[in-house]
Amino acid sequence: MKKLFIKTYGCQMNVYDSARMADLLAPLGYAPVQEPDDADMVILNTCHIREKAAEKVYSELGRLRRMKERKTQSGGSMLIAVAGCVAQAEGAEIVARQSAVDIVVGPQSYQRLPEMIARVSRGTGRALETDFPAEDKFDSLPEELSSSGPTAFLTVQEGCDKFCTFCVVPYTRGAEFSRSVAQIETEARKLVAKGAREITLLGQNVNAYRGAGEDGEPSSLAKLIRHLANIDGLERLRFTTSHPRDMDDDLIAVHGEVEKLMPYLHLPVQCGSDRILAAMNRQHKAGDYLKLVERIRDARTDIALSSDFIVGFPGESDKDFEATLSLVRDVGYAQAFSFKYSPRPGTPASTAAKQIPDEVKVARLAALQGLLTAQQKAFNQSCEGRSMAVLFEKAGRKAGQAVGRSPYLQPVHVDGAGDLIGEIRHVRIESVLPNSLKGVFADPPRVLEPATQSMAAQ
Ligand code: 5AD
Ligand code: SF4
Repeated sequence: MKKLFIKTYGCQMNVYDSARMADLLAPLGYAPVQEPDDADMVILNTCHIREKAAEKVYSELGRLRRMKERKTQSGGSMLIAVAGCVAQAEGAEIVARQSAVDIVVGPQSYQRLPEMIARVSRGTGRALETDFPAEDKFDSLPEELSSSGPTAFLTVQEGCDKFCTFCVVPYTRGAEFSRSVAQIETEARKLVAKGAREITLLGQNVNAYRGAGEDGEPSSLAKLIRHLANIDGLERLRFTTSHPRDMDDDLIAVHGEVEKLMPYLHLPVQCGSDRILAAMNRQHKAGDYLKLVERIRDARTDIALSSDFIVGFPGESDKDFEATLSLVRDVGYAQAFSFKYSPRPGTPASTAAKQIPDEVKVARLAALQGLLTAQQKAFNQSCEGRSMAVLFEKAGRKAGQAVGRSPYLQPVHVDGAGDLIGEIRHVRIESVLPNSLKGVFADPPRVLEPATQSMAAQ
């Protein structure tokens, strides 16, 4: 067996792609390992969304080059591949800056990895593939999935046509594309057969999903969710990431209808100022977002909301930033991600006048994160004493302990749950830790039999 080490940066779509690359290389005799030192092949699956994420890749490549040299001196060999969005955006620069890199492959062409490895191994030089090939990547990926844990990711949609002025995604992942319902169902059933109890449907713009349905007509995400909810053994569904513009009535209704759809929604708003939202080309106003949140909460009262925020977008005034804080106070998030604006090459906002000084970004980020952290704490605190269904995912740090997720995506630690990985149990939350909850087993909530109910009503 050859040893394959994959390091994944960035979003969950990269996590999915890394798993598929491992599936693709399994028939060539590559088995995943946890450390790069002795690996025959190393893949860095990279993220280009912010400058920091992209820069990490070059420092990691420096370390890998030294490892590769040591291995070559002792008679071995190591192939180094850079995949993902940095590969897509900076392929030529990577090749020029780092001679130890053998393969550069973008997110739309990694199905070609086996032939690229063969080319490099024949000694015909380095291989670079960063086009958007005409063939469907998903049609060329292996049907066999090597494994799945209790929770799995399934990419249903890729790319973005929204062109927010700060974002590289439309350039690195290309135009919106949706897989067919049939292809997704087949993959979901395989994941369940391999042990998945929960599937998160992924897409850069997942709620813009328009894949071909069984009748050949485009299906919506709402229809896809209803369809997948019929799969026996699949207990939980989630989806991410959504754009406020694509949250239609039917998708909102699904949250109140489909029990398997978990009450958690990541709905990035980015900021609360209409002036900045327009400059970002978000195509919605703060008021539209607040109304949307109200409608979603009407459909599913206990839904936990999450978001992404950018502070220090070009031209953002103190007043604009105040509007963001005000929106956050109005919504009340269960959790959220927030970032300093990072100018990305090739995006319209990167050349805008009135870039914001870093010290202002730092101060605004601290203020926003202070508020978001307080909201997260309050949400977690509100769970104390409640009983909720937890899907156990992995062993905890203490012997016999296991960690799972609540319906609201919070990590939950339970002692004595070590042999329950992959099981869903009711847990009563007893304490709130900084980033997780701790609980004990509880009885499921009492469901009255219809007969008893009607007697009680008499
Ligand atoms: N600078 C900072 N944050 C960004 N994001 C996207 N592009 C940038 C950028 N140039 C954030 C957005 C998005 C999340 C995935 O990353 O908030 O929703
Ligand atoms: Fe980027 Fe905007 Fe598309 Fe999200 S919707 S991927 S932020 S361009």
